[in-house]
Amino acid sequence: MKEKLSAIVPAAGQGERLGKGPKALVALAGRPLLCWCLETLQSSPWVDELVVAAPPDQESRTRALAQAYPKVQAVVSGGPHRQQSVANALSALSPDVAWVMVHDGARPLLDSRLVEDVVLAARAVGAAVAAVPVVDTIKLAEPLGRRVARTVPREGLWLVQTPQVFRRDWFEEAHRVAGAEGWLVTDDSALVEKLGYPVELVRASRYNLKITDADDLAWAETLVEGGETRVGLGFDIHRLVPDRRLILGGVHVPGEQGLAGHSDADVICHAVMDALLGAVGERDIGCHFPPGDPRYADAFSLGLLRQVAGIVKEKGYRPVNLDITVVAEYPRLAEYVAAMKENLSSVLGLNTQAVGIKATTAEGLGTLGRAEGIAAWAVCMIRRERVRP
Ligand code: CTP
Ligand code: MG
Repeated sequence: MKEKLSAIVPAAGQGERLGKGPKALVALAGRPLLCWCLETLQSSPWVDELVVAAPPDQESRTRALAQAYPKVQAVVSGGPHRQQSVANALSALSPDVAWVMVHDGARPLLDSRLVEDVVLAARAVGAAVAAVPVVDTIKLAEPLGRRVARTVPREGLWLVQTPQVFRRDWFEEAHRVAGAEGWLVTDDSALVEKLGYPVELVRASRYNLKITDADDLAWAETLVEGGETRVGLGFDIHRLVPDRRLILGGVHVPGEQGLAGHSDADVICHAVMDALLGAVGERDIGCHFPPGDPRYADAFSLGLLRQVAGIVKEKGYRPVNLDITVVAEYPRLAEYVAAMKENLSSVLGLNTQAVGIKATTAEGLGTLGRAEGIAAWAVCMIRRERVRP
């Protein structure tokens, strides 16, 4: 039987050198950095569960993003330095896990083949790390200065990356001893080495870069640009009736009336679903979730939107941004917009800034102006990234 592997994703850093707030949430091509590697790890057959260490002040946001990745077993609060964040995550592993992987949340361009290569090397040796040979000449500077002291021969030097994979018992021992001895390192394999265990270097690619400063982010943007961009348009309208709960964007809006429909009649979610389906050339929600099908009676449409997001993903695309206009004479929606954005962005793996929701009235004109119903329009942009070399 295949032994289980848990991947820890330290993503709790403040991203000081990048200077755009907690790095895990900084967008690369419109999507939070953390989501990039979670996507690859989620779809890797070698990874059974994921544990994310989140910035302490961004736990709920990280948890919301993690909802799109069912292998995420826990989101823990990170520590003051990377090693502590990893140690915190380690305490949340499932008991039956035999192997631990660590992958930086700040390395978005993780390749699924590298995940496999490192896992296989670790299974042979006990510990393995992704690394690339040094290609530039290395100089050692005088202490505190820019004057060259000497040139360091680069033969045999490697730059170490993540993923790193370890036998769980070695890894737990390493973190236990490090805690007791006060060792502090920036790399998990360094702890395992200190205990005298073998660590294998696995040839990786420089595309697997860590986003540290603005140059790295610009470089990664260049690597993923190209590909294909599409837009989709969706519209939905439902009649307002008494004695129904009003659900919009997955949020319950209290009031005397709700929207009539087979499902929860959430016009915002329906418009977004149609926009996404349209963008990938699929037929509309009526075909995917037929009204009259008992499975969808009173269905929570935000859940159906999650299924549509899955269809988009299967076709190789991901949402980039979403813009919605909802026309409602009644009730006032302004105070619910933030919660709606939170729902939609979590389901679609987007930053909340990539979701626009504007509510307007129809100024008393026509059907909508007489508050006979509520309507919503949505446009959504989706992208398929250029396949990396
Ligand atoms: N990390 C962490 N907990 C910390 C510090 C770092 O989980 N207390 C994570 C980061 O989120 C990142 C990885 O460790 O995924 C590598 O760290 P680094 O690139 O240094 O990220 P930051 O610490 O966020 O950046 P900076 O040092 O510029 O503040
Ligand atoms: Mg750091």
